[in-house]
Amino acid sequence: MKIIITDNYNTLSAAAGDIIAQQIKAKPDSVLGLATGSTPIGTYKHLVEAGLDFSNVQAFNLDEYYPIPRTNDQSYYYFMNENLFSQVNIDKKNTHIQNGEASDPQAECQRYEDAIKGAGGIDLQLLGLGLNGHIGFNEPDSHFPKATHHVALDESTIEANSRFFASSDDVPRHALTMGIGTIFNARKIVMLISGEAKADIAKAVIHGNIDPQIPASILQLHPDVTIILDKDAAKYVK
Ligand code: GLP
Repeated sequence: MKIIITDNYNTLSAAAGDIIAQQIKAKPDSVLGLATGSTPIGTYKHLVEAGLDFSNVQAFNLDEYYPIPRTNDQSYYYFMNENLFSQVNIDKKNTHIQNGEASDPQAECQRYEDAIKGAGGIDLQLLGLGLNGHIGFNEPDSHFPKATHHVALDESTIEANSRFFASSDDVPRHALTMGIGTIFNARKIVMLISGEAKADIAKAVIHGNIDPQIPASILQLHPDVTIILDKDAAKYVK
Protein backbone atom coordinates (compact mmCIF):
# COMPACT_ATOMS: atom_id res chain seq x y z
CA MET A 1 0.00 0.00 0.00
CA LYS A 2 1.19 3.50 -0.71
CA ILE A 3 1.01 5.63 2.45
CA ILE A 4 0.91 9.43 2.22
CA ILE A 5 1.10 11.41 5.46
CA THR A 6 0.09 15.06 5.23
CA ASP A 7 0.28 17.90 7.76
CA ASN A 8 -3.41 18.46 8.29
CA TYR A 9 -6.93 17.92 6.99
CA ASN A 10 -6.60 20.58 4.26
CA THR A 11 -3.47 19.07 2.77
CA LEU A 12 -5.04 15.61 3.01
CA SER A 13 -8.06 16.89 1.07
CA ALA A 14 -5.88 18.55 -1.56
CA ALA A 15 -3.81 15.37 -2.03
CA ALA A 16 -6.95 13.27 -2.48
CA GLY A 17 -8.52 15.86 -4.78
CA ASP A 18 -5.39 15.85 -6.95
CA ILE A 19 -5.46 12.07 -7.37
CA ILE A 20 -9.13 12.14 -8.40
CA ALA A 21 -8.53 15.12 -10.71
CA GLN A 22 -5.70 13.24 -12.44
CA GLN A 23 -7.98 10.24 -12.87
CA ILE A 24 -10.69 12.35 -14.52
CA LYS A 25 -8.21 14.15 -16.78
CA ALA A 26 -6.60 10.87 -17.87
CA LYS A 27 -9.99 9.19 -18.45
CA PRO A 28 -12.86 11.68 -18.80
CA ASP A 29 -15.45 8.87 -18.67
CA SER A 30 -14.07 7.45 -15.43
CA VAL A 31 -16.32 5.43 -13.16
CA LEU A 32 -15.77 6.80 -9.66
CA GLY A 33 -16.77 5.10 -6.43
CA LEU A 34 -17.62 7.81 -3.91
CA ALA A 35 -17.88 7.98 -0.14
CA THR A 36 -19.76 9.99 2.46
CA GLY A 37 -18.97 10.87 6.08
CA SER A 38 -17.19 14.01 7.23
CA THR A 39 -13.75 13.02 5.94
CA PRO A 40 -14.28 13.40 2.14
CA ILE A 41 -16.06 16.79 2.38
CA GLY A 42 -12.79 18.71 1.91
CA THR A 43 -11.88 16.51 -1.06
CA TYR A 44 -15.20 17.33 -2.73
CA LYS A 45 -14.60 21.06 -2.12
CA HIS A 46 -11.22 20.72 -3.76
CA LEU A 47 -12.77 18.97 -6.78
CA VAL A 48 -15.45 21.66 -7.13
CA GLU A 49 -12.80 24.40 -6.99
CA ALA A 50 -10.64 22.60 -9.56
CA GLY A 51 -13.40 23.21 -12.15
CA LEU A 52 -13.11 19.71 -13.62
CA ASP A 53 -15.26 18.40 -16.42
CA PHE A 54 -17.58 15.76 -14.90
CA SER A 55 -19.85 15.57 -17.95
CA ASN A 56 -18.80 12.02 -18.85
CA VAL A 57 -18.04 10.78 -15.35
CA GLN A 58 -20.16 8.08 -13.74
CA ALA A 59 -20.42 7.91 -9.96
CA PHE A 60 -21.46 5.03 -7.72
CA ASN A 61 -21.75 5.65 -4.01
CA LEU A 62 -20.62 3.13 -1.46
CA ASP A 63 -23.71 3.00 0.67
CA GLU A 64 -27.02 4.41 1.85
CA TYR A 65 -28.97 4.10 5.08
CA TYR A 66 -32.03 1.86 4.99
CA PRO A 67 -34.73 2.80 5.21
CA ILE A 68 -34.38 6.51 4.56
CA PRO A 69 -36.16 8.89 2.18
CA ARG A 70 -33.99 10.82 -0.26
CA THR A 71 -35.43 14.04 1.11
CA ASN A 72 -34.00 13.37 4.58
CA ASP A 73 -31.00 15.68 4.94
CA GLN A 74 -29.06 12.82 6.55
CA SER A 75 -29.51 10.51 3.57
CA TYR A 76 -26.36 9.95 1.58
CA TYR A 77 -28.36 10.86 -1.54
CA TYR A 78 -28.88 14.31 -0.02
CA PHE A 79 -25.24 14.52 1.13
CA MET A 80 -23.86 13.81 -2.34
CA ASN A 81 -26.08 16.39 -3.99
CA GLU A 82 -25.15 19.01 -1.40
CA ASN A 83 -21.41 18.38 -1.35
CA LEU A 84 -20.66 17.51 -4.95
CA PHE A 85 -23.27 16.71 -7.58
CA SER A 86 -25.12 20.05 -7.49
CA GLN A 87 -21.81 21.91 -7.80
CA VAL A 88 -20.23 20.19 -10.81
CA ASN A 89 -21.43 19.44 -14.33
CA ILE A 90 -22.10 15.75 -13.70
CA ASP A 91 -25.10 14.33 -15.54
CA LYS A 92 -27.61 13.32 -12.83
CA LYS A 93 -28.39 10.12 -14.71
CA ASN A 94 -24.75 9.12 -14.22
CA THR A 95 -25.00 9.40 -10.42
CA HIS A 96 -25.92 6.21 -8.61
CA ILE A 97 -26.70 5.37 -5.03
CA GLN A 98 -28.62 2.52 -3.46
CA ASN A 99 -32.30 3.37 -3.09
CA GLY A 100 -32.97 3.75 0.64
CA GLU A 101 -36.70 3.56 -0.09
CA ALA A 102 -36.65 0.32 -2.12
CA SER A 103 -39.45 -2.06 -1.13
CA ASP A 104 -37.22 -5.10 -1.72
CA PRO A 105 -33.73 -4.36 -0.37
CA GLN A 106 -32.23 -7.64 -1.65
CA ALA A 107 -33.42 -6.93 -5.20
CA GLU A 108 -32.11 -3.38 -4.90
CA CYS A 109 -28.66 -4.68 -3.89
CA GLN A 110 -28.57 -7.03 -6.88
CA ARG A 111 -29.68 -4.21 -9.22
CA TYR A 112 -26.88 -2.01 -7.86
CA GLU A 113 -24.21 -4.67 -8.20
CA ASP A 114 -25.35 -5.29 -11.80
CA ALA A 115 -25.30 -1.55 -12.57
CA ILE A 116 -21.66 -1.29 -11.46
CA LYS A 117 -20.73 -4.26 -13.66
CA GLY A 118 -22.74 -2.75 -16.53
CA ALA A 119 -20.71 0.46 -16.25
CA GLY A 120 -17.50 -1.56 -16.66
CA GLY A 121 -16.50 -1.61 -12.98
CA ILE A 122 -15.07 1.13 -10.80
CA ASP A 123 -11.87 2.87 -11.89
CA LEU A 124 -11.19 4.70 -8.64
CA GLN A 125 -12.89 4.09 -5.32
CA LEU A 126 -12.69 6.73 -2.59
CA LEU A 127 -13.05 5.46 0.99
CA GLY A 128 -13.29 6.85 4.49
CA LEU A 129 -12.73 4.66 7.53
CA GLY A 130 -15.18 3.98 10.35
CA LEU A 131 -13.90 4.05 13.94
CA ASN A 132 -14.53 0.31 14.09
CA GLY A 133 -12.60 -0.32 10.85
CA HIS A 134 -15.61 -0.41 8.55
CA ILE A 135 -15.50 0.66 4.91
CA GLY A 136 -18.82 1.64 3.40
CA PHE A 137 -21.08 -0.06 5.92
CA ASN A 138 -19.14 -3.35 5.94
CA GLU A 139 -19.18 -3.85 9.67
CA PRO A 140 -16.82 -6.10 11.67
CA ASP A 141 -17.94 -9.67 11.00
CA SER A 142 -16.75 -13.28 10.90
CA HIS A 143 -16.23 -13.04 7.13
CA PHE A 144 -15.74 -10.45 4.39
CA PRO A 145 -19.10 -9.89 2.63
CA LYS A 146 -18.68 -10.09 -1.14
CA ALA A 147 -21.37 -8.14 -2.95
CA THR A 148 -23.71 -5.22 -2.28
CA HIS A 149 -25.91 -6.26 0.63
CA HIS A 150 -28.43 -5.24 3.26
CA VAL A 151 -26.72 -4.91 6.65
CA ALA A 152 -27.67 -4.24 10.26
CA LEU A 153 -25.54 -1.42 11.63
CA ASP A 154 -23.31 -1.98 14.66
CA GLU A 155 -24.30 -0.26 17.89
CA SER A 156 -20.92 1.56 17.70
CA THR A 157 -21.73 2.87 14.20
CA ILE A 158 -25.20 4.04 15.30
CA GLU A 159 -23.52 5.81 18.20
CA ALA A 160 -20.76 7.34 16.01
CA ASN A 161 -23.21 8.54 13.37
CA SER A 162 -25.80 9.84 15.86
CA ARG A 163 -23.86 13.13 15.91
CA PHE A 164 -25.48 13.96 12.57
CA PHE A 165 -29.04 13.16 13.73
CA ALA A 166 -31.27 14.79 16.35
CA SER A 167 -30.82 11.71 18.56
CA SER A 168 -29.43 8.19 18.24
CA ASP A 169 -33.04 6.91 18.02
CA ASP A 170 -33.28 8.70 14.67
CA VAL A 171 -30.33 6.83 13.11
CA PRO A 172 -31.60 4.15 10.69
CA ARG A 173 -30.72 0.67 11.98
CA HIS A 174 -29.84 -0.77 8.58
CA ALA A 175 -28.02 0.15 5.39
CA LEU A 176 -27.40 -1.03 1.84
CA THR A 177 -23.68 -1.15 1.13
CA MET A 178 -21.25 -2.26 -1.54
CA GLY A 179 -19.58 -5.45 -0.30
CA ILE A 180 -15.89 -5.90 0.35
CA GLY A 181 -15.73 -7.77 -2.97
CA THR A 182 -17.41 -4.87 -4.79
CA ILE A 183 -14.86 -2.45 -3.30
CA PHE A 184 -11.98 -4.82 -3.93
CA ASN A 185 -12.87 -5.01 -7.63
CA ALA A 186 -12.11 -1.29 -8.03
CA ARG A 187 -8.97 -0.82 -10.10
CA LYS A 188 -7.61 1.86 -7.78
CA ILE A 189 -8.53 2.65 -4.16
CA VAL A 190 -7.86 5.85 -2.20
CA MET A 191 -8.61 5.80 1.51
CA LEU A 192 -8.67 8.90 3.71
CA ILE A 193 -8.04 8.83 7.46
CA SER A 194 -8.14 12.03 9.48
CA GLY A 195 -7.89 12.89 13.16
CA GLU A 196 -6.38 11.43 16.30
CA ALA A 197 -9.54 9.46 17.12
CA LYS A 198 -8.69 7.21 14.14
CA ALA A 199 -4.99 6.71 15.06
CA ASP A 200 -5.50 3.28 16.67
CA ILE A 201 -7.72 1.90 13.93
CA ALA A 202 -5.39 3.31 11.23
CA LYS A 203 -2.50 1.37 12.76
CA ALA A 204 -4.58 -1.82 12.90
CA VAL A 205 -5.69 -1.42 9.27
CA ILE A 206 -2.18 -0.74 7.95
CA HIS A 207 0.05 -2.84 10.21
CA GLY A 208 -2.29 -5.40 11.80
CA ASN A 209 -3.49 -8.82 10.69
CA ILE A 210 -5.97 -9.16 7.87
CA ASP A 211 -9.09 -9.83 9.87
CA PRO A 212 -12.80 -9.50 9.01
CA GLN A 213 -13.24 -7.94 12.46
CA ILE A 214 -11.30 -5.00 10.93
CA PRO A 215 -12.88 -4.94 7.47
CA ALA A 216 -10.50 -2.35 5.96
CA SER A 217 -7.50 -4.60 6.74
CA ILE A 218 -8.29 -6.60 3.58
CA LEU A 219 -7.01 -3.60 1.58
CA GLN A 220 -3.47 -4.78 2.39
CA LEU A 221 -4.00 -7.35 -0.39
CA HIS A 222 -5.26 -4.97 -3.09
CA PRO A 223 -2.69 -4.15 -5.80
CA ASP A 224 -3.35 -0.39 -6.01
CA VAL A 225 -4.24 1.27 -2.71
CA THR A 226 -3.20 4.73 -1.56
CA ILE A 227 -3.93 5.67 2.04
CA ILE A 228 -3.76 9.37 2.83
CA LEU A 229 -3.57 10.26 6.51
CA ASP A 230 -3.10 13.51 8.32
CA LYS A 231 -0.42 13.64 11.02
CA ASP A 232 -2.89 13.07 13.85
CA ALA A 233 -4.30 9.90 12.31
CA ALA A 234 -0.79 8.70 11.41
CA LYS A 235 0.52 8.86 15.00
CA TYR A 236 1.23 5.08 15.12
CA VAL A 237 1.91 4.50 11.42
CA LYS A 238 5.53 3.55 10.70
C1 GLP B 1 -20.05 6.27 7.67
C2 GLP B 1 -19.91 5.81 6.23
C3 GLP B 1 -18.50 5.42 5.89
C4 GLP B 1 -17.53 6.46 6.41
C5 GLP B 1 -17.64 6.51 7.91
C6 GLP B 1 -16.63 7.43 8.57
O1 GLP B 1 -20.37 5.25 8.56
N1 GLP B 1 -20.78 4.72 5.91
O2 GLP B 1 -18.38 5.27 4.48
O3 GLP B 1 -16.22 6.16 6.02
O4 GLP B 1 -18.94 6.96 8.21
O5 GLP B 1 -17.14 8.73 8.68
P1 GLP B 1 -16.30 10.00 9.05
O6 GLP B 1 -15.50 10.34 7.86
O7 GLP B 1 -17.34 11.03 9.36
O8 GLP B 1 -15.47 9.63 10.23
